[in-house]
Amino acid sequence: METYETDHLDIVRALAPECMVLLRSDGAFPLAGPGEIALFGSGARRTVKGGTGSGDVNSRHVTTIEEGLEAAGFTVVTKPWLDAYDRVHDQAHQDFIAGIRAEAAERDVPAIMIGMGSVMAEPEHEIPLDVETDVDPQTAVYVLARTSGEGSDRTPDAGDLRLTASEIRDIRALSKRFERFLLVLNVGGVVDLSTLGDVTNILLLSQLGATIGDAFTDVLLGRAYPSGKLATTWAAWDEAEQIGDFGDPDDTRYREGVYVGYRFYDSIGKEPLFPFGFGLGYTTFDLRTHQVSLDGARVSIDVDVTNTGSHPGKETVQVYAAVPPGRLDQPLQALAGFTKTGQIAPRETARVTVDVDLTDLASYDEAAHATVLEAGRYLLRVGTSSRHLSPVAVVGLGEDAIVRRLTGDLGEPGFTDWRPETPAALDIPADLPVLAVDPARLRLPDRAEPASAADLDEALALARTLSDDELIHTVLGDYRSGEESGSIIGAASTTVVGAAGQSTTRIAGVPSIIMADGPAGLRLAPTYGVDAEGSFSLGDSSLPATFLELMDDAGREVLGIADEPEPREPAEIREQYATAIPIGTALAQSWNPVLAERLGDVVGAEMERFSVHLWLAPAFNLHRSVLCGRNFEYLSEDPLLAGRIAAAITRGVQSHPGRGVTIKHLACNNQETNRLNSNSRVSPRALRDHYLRPFEICVRRARPAAVMTSYNLINGVHTSESAQLLEVILRQEWGFDGLVMTDWVVDGMTHSDMKHPRATAAATVKAGNELFMPGGEPDRQNLLAALRRGSENLGAAGRPEQSDDAVSLTRTELETQAARVIRMARRLAVSPAS
Ligand code: BGC
Repeated sequence: METYETDHLDIVRALAPECMVLLRSDGAFPLAGPGEIALFGSGARRTVKGGTGSGDVNSRHVTTIEEGLEAAGFTVVTKPWLDAYDRVHDQAHQDFIAGIRAEAAERDVPAIMIGMGSVMAEPEHEIPLDVETDVDPQTAVYVLARTSGEGSDRTPDAGDLRLTASEIRDIRALSKRFERFLLVLNVGGVVDLSTLGDVTNILLLSQLGATIGDAFTDVLLGRAYPSGKLATTWAAWDEAEQIGDFGDPDDTRYREGVYVGYRFYDSIGKEPLFPFGFGLGYTTFDLRTHQVSLDGARVSIDVDVTNTGSHPGKETVQVYAAVPPGRLDQPLQALAGFTKTGQIAPRETARVTVDVDLTDLASYDEAAHATVLEAGRYLLRVGTSSRHLSPVAVVGLGEDAIVRRLTGDLGEPGFTDWRPETPAALDIPADLPVLAVDPARLRLPDRAEPASAADLDEALALARTLSDDELIHTVLGDYRSGEESGSIIGAASTTVVGAAGQSTTRIAGVPSIIMADGPAGLRLAPTYGVDAEGSFSLGDSSLPATFLELMDDAGREVLGIADEPEPREPAEIREQYATAIPIGTALAQSWNPVLAERLGDVVGAEMERFSVHLWLAPAFNLHRSVLCGRNFEYLSEDPLLAGRIAAAITRGVQSHPGRGVTIKHLACNNQETNRLNSNSRVSPRALRDHYLRPFEICVRRARPAAVMTSYNLINGVHTSESAQLLEVILRQEWGFDGLVMTDWVVDGMTHSDMKHPRATAAATVKAGNELFMPGGEPDRQNLLAALRRGSENLGAAGRPEQSDDAVSLTRTELETQAARVIRMARRLAVSPAS
């Protein structure tokens, strides 16, 4: 291992406990020291570091729970169980692959199209819970694992969201039999724990990257302590089911409007199993509000946090606001601010300040085309989860206030949002201090200050000198046609092996932008060969194992990959191991922007090392349904938490010159079902207040270098083809001045007979999504045809007349979009590594 790897692993190990959420505790943990331990469960030896798909990361090694325990001096006395489980798992995997092949043959499609992202449910089994020793150990740990990934959604079935009968049986039996029993959840998203009411110690370990086994052991032994809080509500499936489903895969109705996650449960007065913001530690805290003050639109709440237990810990002080319903209905409450303390020793007190920006509480009013705060009394409550809160102040607003007037319009969904029939309400205690806010202080600029156009003008000057063909290549990823084609979803870069893509290498004076996936670290091929002609893949690509297992000629054809390349003899083999950091949801569970920034910094350092310019992360579509297969990559169900953590990650990465993030997927990519062709039907209010909000927060606070649009449509228009989204909302309203690229669309991935066909390169580029990825010959042809139409049909005013549905592009439009790509290529070329 190289020094950067050990340094980065040490950082990840030290920070990981902040991402773990202790869900139940009876005081039996931490342990006093290592000893004999009974270890069970699917994640004990096959510990999951993160999900599958483009969000997977190739680290050199992942320390499993079993390895972590043994390295710390534990004796695992249940090896026969773990061996037997391996056999059950391997058999189930073979059956799973055979099933996919059979289904593919029956439907006459390549196996890869069915298998891409599909995840095997946890198998049932009858393995006895024996231990290998005469003396029964006192301690047992059961590690329940789940994995999910890009390309398919989760199911509410046993073995995925629900527990299998074998798991329930074993966990209950162990919980009764052992003096100290800990259920560890090695999962990327919610599992339904309603069948385990009598289990008294549950740790949501989550999926924490390469050092997960060590970080777990540190916490088990009390060398570190968990201090995470849930970033998403954990409810029993029967409760979750009532709202927010995927419905018709062609047209998903976001009928629940803004009532997502805790906003839903709180507003109908239903207590979920574990509420948003909840998490225990090894100690307890007492909160006392010291002072509340108002300055303009900012309320500052000083809180004294006292450690009342006997172990050190950190607490997250959370502030929720109840916005008074008026013309607009309002969820019972919304997160309005949070601050995590540093470590507090037993009996010590730390004072923290939580700032609430009242303009963050504004709601979108469709009638006024503005975000507004309606007159009334706004109750602020402080506490340690969304369900453990005390009222601290009332903000009084005497008249309605407009915060921003907005012009961007993403259409109508064709239905009215659901709202609770008898919404829960909070009483406002009479003795609370009332802070009277001046409505004039709540007004914000409608449009962001335009960024300096100097570097765009320079790029435009260059674009004007390029031929039509060169311009077209500039707005396409760096594709190779025919024989040379390396264009594969997620690994299309030819410069950095295993990186997801790159911009063109064909234009003199325009550096190629190299992009690699995330969000749980940098996804690259772990090794590659070098010979006199350059670097090349050794076949150990960065693609997931199941994907490779199912790849065949039909799959290659569909994905536009050339035949298997001739074996090439490397003169040298080089390594590019990246550090797997905690998954997105785990980062959000830290509720700690400083931690998120530090891990962004780790990724930025590795980008420098491996000459990657843009990281295709962070990803933060909101957790709308717990079934979304990519929720593990995403941060939270709450826009404020997601936006602030995303901004922190962005700052960490972009502290490295010449390195940028690509925030994704803008927007409403909240499911994998029919992900390329599904139309998310969402009300303007839910879009503004909820689904666009985290992106807006991140853009305004941290100026991310790039944005990736989503595959899906919003109210009938592909996000990548929406000038309203890209030119009006993103650029004019939020002030974004970076690069916009598409998600990776390869021709064979989608069919023309879909209700909503895939986005086209020409429509995309025209709408302000200036880089079509990964790019292919059909996309070049599409752009050429559009340019031809654009030059033939020039009307009197010099504007193209659309004679039919086909898009036309003028040369001027193409120059403008190419200039945006050139500008970013030049901005990113400033670093010494480039
Ligand atoms: C994913 C993106 C990813 C891209 C490149 C797509 O399939 O949706 O999140 O960045 O591939 O690998």
